[in-house]
Amino acid sequence: MYASETAWREVDAYFVETLVDEDKALIAARESGQRTTMPQAEVAPNQGKLLALLCQMAGARRVLEFGTLAGYSTVWLARAVGGGGFVTTLELEEHNAGIARTNLREAGVAERVEVLVGPAGESAQRLIEEGAEPYDFVFIDADKPSNPAYLKASLELTRPGSVIVIDNVVRNGAVTDPASEDERVQGVRAVLADIAADARLDATSLQTVGSKGWDGFTIVRRAR
Ligand code: DHB
Ligand code: MG
Repeated sequence: MYASETAWREVDAYFVETLVDEDKALIAARESGQRTTMPQAEVAPNQGKLLALLCQMAGARRVLEFGTLAGYSTVWLARAVGGGGFVTTLELEEHNAGIARTNLREAGVAERVEVLVGPAGESAQRLIEEGAEPYDFVFIDADKPSNPAYLKASLELTRPGSVIVIDNVVRNGAVTDPASEDERVQGVRAVLADIAADARLDATSLQTVGSKGWDGFTIVRRAR
């Protein structure tokens, strides 16, 4: 049976109201996403909490995020790592980074988050050159054509046991079309092929429906 998008939204609303506590700062971060260069791209509240739970299950202290926007997922990640943890988040646009910094301050986590502005690939390359400590958890959620480059950089910045999550790997089912002319779809297909070909990596992908329509994410564990 096919359920309508309205039903998906209602179920998401029910799950969020039952299980997901969004305080004032998270609500403000979500709503301020409207003022970024990409409104409505932030994760849904129940997905934000999933990221936080995965981080905690992995015992993550250091988190790297590709794609900050208003910092909604960043707040979830920063709270998940706790006071002894640290989040580095990479954002292309200074305008978005300013909004994110305000939201991180309001959420009380500004001192454990660094927002690096500029093309995320270049920021990641700088982290590699600086010999950054390995990250325990990576969330790849920036421009989709660069997914393969972000995975490659992540493999320079993680350790065996690290977890990598990639957002938006379904895009209304478009991901199955090898001939797609959408370079975001090709970015997803290429990164999944890279993961499959890398003997260090174990992964699965899940489809999601809900307040963000039909999409999904990939979860990767670096075994060695
Ligand atoms: C888009 C990007 C995202 O990261 C997301 O979660 C939803 C949509 C986009 O590029 O349209
Ligand atoms: Mg996303």
